[in-house]
Amino acid sequence: MAVTPATREQPAIKGGKPVRDTLLPYGRQSITEEDIAAVVAVLRSDWLTTGPKVDEFEEAFAARVRASYAVSFSSGTAALHGAVFAADLKPGDEAITTPLTFAATANCVLYQGATPVFADVDETTLNLDPEKAAKCITSRTKALLPVDFAGHPADLDAFLALAEGHGLTVIEDAAHALGAEYRQRGVGGISHMTVFSFHPVKHLTTGEGGMVTTQNAKFAEKLRHFRNHGISSDARRRQSEGQWHYEMVALGYNYRLTDIGCALGLQQLPRLDANLARRRKIAKCYNDAFDGLTGVIVPRVRDDVNHAWHLYPIRIEANKFSAGRGELFRALRAENIGVNVHYIPVHLHPYYRDRFGFRGGEFPLAEQAYEEMISLPMFHGMNDQDVSDVIHALRKVVHAYAR
Ligand SMILES: Cc1ncc(COP(=O)(O)O)c(C=O)c1O
Repeated sequence: MAVTPATREQPAIKGGKPVRDTLLPYGRQSITEEDIAAVVAVLRSDWLTTGPKVDEFEEAFAARVRASYAVSFSSGTAALHGAVFAADLKPGDEAITTPLTFAATANCVLYQGATPVFADVDETTLNLDPEKAAKCITSRTKALLPVDFAGHPADLDAFLALAEGHGLTVIEDAAHALGAEYRQRGVGGISHMTVFSFHPVKHLTTGEGGMVTTQNAKFAEKLRHFRNHGISSDARRRQSEGQWHYEMVALGYNYRLTDIGCALGLQQLPRLDANLARRRKIAKCYNDAFDGLTGVIVPRVRDDVNHAWHLYPIRIEANKFSAGRGELFRALRAENIGVNVHYIPVHLHPYYRDRFGFRGGEFPLAEQAYEEMISLPMFHGMNDQDVSDVIHALRKVVHAYAR
């Protein structure tokens, strides 16, 4: 891959020519003509929602991640809510999670009237640290909610051991980690419940959508009721059996994923391996290109995982530059590289500060990581020129601001 060597080029933010003429986003879906045809076929069929495509997608997905059950939801957030419900979290209960995640991970605990308890991250992987989580376990703890940050699986065996010892449920937020592996086992078949998101920037999309996978029949049944108003049978079965009777057995929601979305997901699933291979190749190009680049720390990966690379967050060593992370971020944007930041720690959002009294400083590793991180573009549709542009732009900006 031809990458312009490090030079003293004038950065675009200071009037130089940008590396690209158009913005390269940090993440993006890929849709083929076959995907479009599959969606159109559903539009011409009898079932737009909760029809045959839902069952087909759930079965194919469960087989892919080696889970006994897969229950689809209208979003990853709805799927998280379903998992927290299935784990029986109620007011007075607590779930331990990481502050370095999208707010939905913690919000779902609040939806059930329970309390999210944050523990700091592991310095290497930036995933919830099992030892710090263990210190937060009380008689009120019902669930552990690790997140596979950026696509790097959390230390699942450690969380399962903790759960075993304390009678807890492990709900893994794998919104970033479809296709990742932990100790040679696929994410989705390991935790008590694993939650995926099919938002367009993820490895597979249904527009909006999500899934919970589990090996536990009871969880699967509760998840199915919950996503359908708490009703114990579905409309298609009632129609085929020619009967009208149904019973609402729990307070649920309408969190159903449509046949339209499931047809898209079914089409995309067989491309997952190629998609992962491309992301892994891009990560390797970035790792090689940034090896030894002053002030830039590339993501660290444990030996016992196979990363899914939803995100590629670098860390900036502030003392090596004449400007802070914010200025470097803006400089990369000026080069038309669509960088992003993942994540503002959840406890620092005004809602969490106001409700729980967080002031900053509670979770120093997560907070420091947030201050230093920049997510570079990472999606399977990036071509070699896109990857070269990112490398060129980062080198250009680093050299322009290096002390
Ligand atoms: C870690 C994490 N959890 C949950 C979600 C929520 O998923 P969705 O956007 O499908 O509701 C996201 C979405 O980006 C996420 O990144």
